[in-house]
Amino acid sequence: MHVQDSIKKIYFATSNIHKFTEVSNILSKYGINVIMVRRKILEIQSDNLIEIATQSLYNALKSGTKTPLILEDSGLFIRSLNGFPGPYSSYVYRTIGLNGILKILEGVEDRQAEFKSVIAFADKSMNIKSFIGVVKGRISYEARGTYGFGFDPIFIPNHLSKTFGEMPPQEKNKYSHRAKALMKFINWSLKEINK
Ligand code: IMP
Repeated sequence: MHVQDSIKKIYFATSNIHKFTEVSNILSKYGINVIMVRRKILEIQSDNLIEIATQSLYNALKSGTKTPLILEDSGLFIRSLNGFPGPYSSYVYRTIGLNGILKILEGVEDRQAEFKSVIAFADKSMNIKSFIGVVKGRISYEARGTYGFGFDPIFIPNHLSKTFGEMPPQEKNKYSHRAKALMKFINWSLKEINK
């Protein structure tokens, strides 16, 4: 695969303004201008984030979304629940929400959890590649903080005491699954350019 020139502008298919802010904060540091594409994209059901992100990217390309394009799929995986809600995180957030998860974990000592993010990328020739980022941490006993979105107020990254909900985007970006997946993408694209 060849990234023809250094990427100056990239389209990001998402309707989540928080994801957009996190991604554009990081990519702007590398001189990449991120353009939000709010188009509704068909998302398949699967237990596998890479499959979901890649298939959604194909669907976005098929419906004419411009390239270079990125798309992201992510989820919260709770160890004592065998990885639930995982790829169903957005549905679970909308239905039982933070309080639902806290309730399920009432009296559960093992609070270990991880967020995973998959960034799927298509270059101008529509070659596709995906990058995965993981942040390990634990589920708090109560929701804290008003920053971010989704499960941010109940997730504490390892070695820290604040939840993601208590961190402004720049701080969350030091630790997050999304930031890690993006850094893999950036490092890969820099290597491709210098080939
Ligand atoms: P999707 O990637 O849009 O399918 O949604 C993933 C869902 O996982 C979101 O709706 C959130 O509930 C949750 N999630 C993924 N990443 C994060 C994050 O960085 N903070 C909080 N919740 C997240």
